[in-house]
Parts: sequence; C-alpha cells; structure tokens
Amino acid sequence: MVQALRAMREREAAMSKLLMAFIVAGLVFMLFPGTLLGVWNLLQISGRAQSGSISPSWLQAHGHAQVFGWVGSFLLGIGFYSIPKLRERATRVIRAAWVSWALWTLGVGVRWVATVYRWEWRALVPAGGMMEFSAFCIFFVVVSQHKPKDSRSTLEPWVWVVMSATIGFLLSLGANLIESVGVALRGVDPAFPRDFDQRYLVLLGWGFLVPFVWGFSAKWMRVFLGLRPVRPRFLLAAVILAFLGVGCAAAGWFGIATTFLLAATISSVVAIRIFESSQQEPKTRGIHKSFPVFVRIAYGWLLIAASLGVAACQWDTSGGFWGASRHALTVGFVGTMILGVGQRILPAFAGMRLLWSPRLMFVGLFLLTLGCTLRVCCEVLAYQGYATWAWHFLPASALIELMALSVFTVNLLCTFVLQKSHAVNEPMTVGLPQLAPAGNLR
Ligand code: HEM
Repeated sequence: MVQALRAMREREAAMSKLLMAFIVAGLVFMLFPGTLLGVWNLLQISGRAQSGSISPSWLQAHGHAQVFGWVGSFLLGIGFYSIPKLRERATRVIRAAWVSWALWTLGVGVRWVATVYRWEWRALVPAGGMMEFSAFCIFFVVVSQHKPKDSRSTLEPWVWVVMSATIGFLLSLGANLIESVGVALRGVDPAFPRDFDQRYLVLLGWGFLVPFVWGFSAKWMRVFLGLRPVRPRFLLAAVILAFLGVGCAAAGWFGIATTFLLAATISSVVAIRIFESSQQEPKTRGIHKSFPVFVRIAYGWLLIAASLGVAACQWDTSGGFWGASRHALTVGFVGTMILGVGQRILPAFAGMRLLWSPRLMFVGLFLLTLGCTLRVCCEVLAYQGYATWAWHFLPASALIELMALSVFTVNLLCTFVLQKSHAVNEPMTVGLPQLAPAGNLR
C-alpha cells in the first residue's frame, strides 16, 4: 500500500516535470521566435506603410513558431499529462513522451532557424517538418492506445470535438511536411507559395486551433463559469460546419468557406452557451475574478474573426481584412483563452501549485485585449488605405501585445519556480473539476 502510494507520487512528479518541459518550451517559442519576430515584422510593415512589403518567409516563420511552437507545445504537454493510461504504466510511455518533446522542440527550432536565416534550408525545412510530424505520431500512438474503462460507454461530446481537433492537428502537420518537401525541391526560398499558404492558414485556424478550444470549453466552462449544460447537437454542427469551411477553402472557394465558418462560430456559441447567464457561481479561487469576463471576450473575438473573414471576401484589397480576421482569431480568441484557461489550470497540473499573481493575470489579459483591439481596428483602416493615421497606432499595438505575453510568461515561470508544490503531501485541486488524483482532464 505504502509502496503503491509512493509509486503514484513518483509518477505524478514525473508527469508534472514533463508537462512543465512542454510549457517552458512553448513559452520560449512564443516569446522569442514568435512574438518578437511578429513585432519586428509589424514595425517593418508600419515603417514602410505598406502591407506585403516584407519577406513572406519571416511572416511564416512567426506564424509557425506561434501555432506549433507555442500552442502545439502546450497542447502536447497537456495531452500527455492527461492520458489516464499514461499514468498507469508510466515508465515506458514517459520515456516515449520525452522523445516526443525532444523531437518536437528540435523540429520547431530547426524549422525557424532555417526559414529566417535561410541556412541549409532545402534540407532543414523538410527535416524540421519530419521531426514535428514524428513527435506528433508518438503522441498519437500513445493517445490511441488509451481506451475508455467501459468500452460500451458512449464518449462525451467534448471528447469527439477534441478528437476531431487532433485529426486537424495531424492534417496540419502533414500539409506542412508535404509542402516543405515541395519548396525544398522547387522553391527559390523557404516560404510557402501564397495560394497554398492562404488555404493552409484556414486549416490551421479552423481545423486545428479553434476545435481544440471548443473541445476544452465544452469540457471545462460549465464548471469554471457555472454555465448551463452544453447543447451537443449544436456542438457537433459547429465542428461539421468548420470542417466544411476548411474543405471549401482548400478547394479555393473562400466565399462559401467563410460563410460556413461564421455559421460554425454561431453554432459553437449556442452550444457552449457562453453568453448566457451562469447557473452557478464561477470558480475563480486562486485566480483573478475577471476570468469569466475574459473568456466571454475571447468568444466575442471569435465572432469578430469569422465576420471579418466574410467581409474580407467582399472588400479586401490589400490584406487588411484578412490580417485583422487572422489576428482576431489567433491573438483575440486563441491567445486570450490560453492566457485565461492556462493560468487557471496549469499551476495545478504542474505539481498542485497556486498561481503566483492573480493581479498579473488580469494585467496580461487586459493588455492583450487592448493591444488586440488596437491592432484589429487599425489593421483594416491602415492596410486598406481607409485612414493613414492608423499606421501610427500599429507599432503601439504590437508592443502592448508583447507586454501582455511577457507578463503571462513571467507569471507562469514564477509559479513553477517560486510557488510551493503541494503534490506530495496535500492534494489540492483549487476547484478543478474532478481532477484525479491530481489533475487529468476527465
Ligand atoms: C505581439 C503579437 C503578434 C504580432 C505583433 C503579430 C504580427 C503579425 C504580422 C505582422 C503578421 C503578418 C500578417 C499581417 O500583416 O497581419 C502576422 C501573421 C501571422 N500571425 Fe501574428 N502576431 C502576433 C501574435 C500572434 C499569435 C499569438 C499567433 C498564433 C497563436 C499568431 C499567428 C500568426 C499567423 C498564423 C500568421 C500568418 C503567417 C503566414 O502568413 O503564413 N500571431 N502576425
């Protein structure tokens, strides 16, 4: 009995260490290769008062570092941490998970360096894609070995959504790998051709990132925000419409695609009931009380992103509507959700810690909302040539977002380093829904 308890604690400690390695890698990718390069790109664009005036390789290196380096690392870390089977027969699978971490981190790093510095890019861009793909395959194999305890029980709706997002993740990495080989063989530089990139970005956004957030929202928001139960049919409709949108975009039918994506967004809002009044008190112990407001703001950004996509098909002449739509989606929706939910769950997952500073959590979320509002409004006005004064606000928007993401990073790192872990002696769930023994996602 004592031995079993000790083994369980050791497993838990190993799991938390693995999770923290993924999270720290994600934070490093987000801050330096991702955000700093994004800020630099925007300063260049604003300085020349012209979108499309800088290297597509640098834009894509920024996007890749954010989507795969930041969000991908966080998802893999949380995914490995929350597989119950991994918790049972830990040793072999934890070793595999570390191999996956090493391949993933190296793959994203190599890809960034090769794209930005063009150093041996014909070999290294496909090699980076291959390493990322292999790291994901290890994760996929581990996850697919996991079966529900009762095989006759039906899966909950959020599980289906997360599974479809996982397929979207796989497709995104597959498309990235195939195109990386393509540019290595035929391209003149490491950038993906514009036509392909436009379609690929729809897959990344709506086939991968958005369904993951829907899945986790369906799972957690009922408890975190005290919402009424999810409407499963609307959730399923949202996922189907989103994948139809991705399919139409892949075929080049952007008009129909953006209409599907707007319909998918509306359906998800109805399903998750995010704007309906709460049935119970939100659970905000240990974090900032404004958390439910920011989660709702994030869904507001999703509606704005989808509407700007529809507008882009009508009026975009120089990337202003498309850029604003993408930014509302990546920073407004995905970024706000990660800053909010991340600071809600990660301290507990990483050895049952308490968030270092709830006040900093508010500062980060507030700055992100401010920066994103400034950026989305000014991007349409400036890029489209509607108002030249808007160019002057774009650099400020980038610096405000950089501050927001830095504050988030500091808060998480201080949580990991300075906050005491309660995992060993006192189980402490800080209001997480049924986290057993210390935090799986059930
Ligand atoms: C300080 C924050 C950020 C800044 C200043 C920034 C800046 C930029 C800029 C200037 C572009 C070029 C297109 C345009 O002009 O709109 C861009 C594209 C992009 N960004 Fe960001 N960004 C930031 C955060 C993020 C985040 C958090 C994500 C993802 C989670 C992200 C993902 C992307 C993607 C996928 C693209 C498209 C790249 C391509 O053309 O292939 N960005 N960003």
